[in-house]
Amino acid sequence: MATMTVRLFKKGSDDSSASMCLKSAFEDDPFARAFMPGQVYEDLGAEMYRKWIDLLQGFGMTYVVECEGVTKTVAAWEPDHEPIWAYPKMLLFLAWCLWKFGAKQTFRIFKLMSSGDEKRAKHAPTAYRLSVLGTVADFQGRGAGTKVLKPMLDRADRENFPCYLESSNPKNVPFYKRNGFKIVEECYPLQDWPEYRESKGPVMTLMYRDVPPDGETSSTN
Ligand SMILES: CC(C)(COP(=O)(O)OP(=O)(O)OC[C@H]1O[C@@H](n2cnc3c(N)ncnc32)[C@H](O)[C@@H]1OP(=O)(O)O)[C@@H](O)C(=O)NCCC(=O)NCCS
Repeated sequence: MATMTVRLFKKGSDDSSASMCLKSAFEDDPFARAFMPGQVYEDLGAEMYRKWIDLLQGFGMTYVVECEGVTKTVAAWEPDHEPIWAYPKMLLFLAWCLWKFGAKQTFRIFKLMSSGDEKRAKHAPTAYRLSVLGTVADFQGRGAGTKVLKPMLDRADRENFPCYLESSNPKNVPFYKRNGFKIVEECYPLQDWPEYRESKGPVMTLMYRDVPPDGETSSTN
């Protein structure tokens, strides 16, 4: 079986492969599809993930798993408090969204990000936040997702620091539970969209991973 290696993301050489990896991973994601329906995802998905990764990699907490030289999984984390330089980068990201998706969709993206920040402040004011995680579709279920989480989960354990995430797909909840996360809330951030008035839209599962009890580590080895 080919060896999988986990390492820090390298700006420049990893940008393109990481964005293609995420595009493949989120192909069926309910939130990605709500924001980029049909052909929009095909046309702009990779570019959007590239912008997002560029924003996050500055925190120095983005990891990749590669197998035979190909990026198979990406996990990008955020610190508990964003440094000042992150704000202009965020504005540039929103400006790009405005250019590509238009005002209505950009406003919706901004609203989703703001409501996410509010929930985070409520449930996990000090915690590392897993902002995005994805494994190439045909490589899922081989342990790469578990492997890519390990450096940051180990770091959190060493530092006695909690972790937090918003799962955009309920099918990932068992995977996150296996990695020590517990559900703190389920919410429906798109329920005020006209098309979701009846159904409430896709569920977002907010999950928290507490510091380990004294002398224990709870990450999967
Ligand atoms: C969630 C996600 C990142 C997990 O990545 P992955 O590489 O498939 O993760 P793993 O292989 O480590 O674990 C996935 C499952 O495979 C199983 N598994 C782990 N190692 C395995 C191996 N060597 N062989 C077979 N199965 C294995 C795990 O038990 C796990 O099962 P579970 O879902 O019941 O917990 C991946 O499914 C994905 O990219 N999904 C689409 C994008 C997405 O939803 N991202 C998260 C948004 S919140």
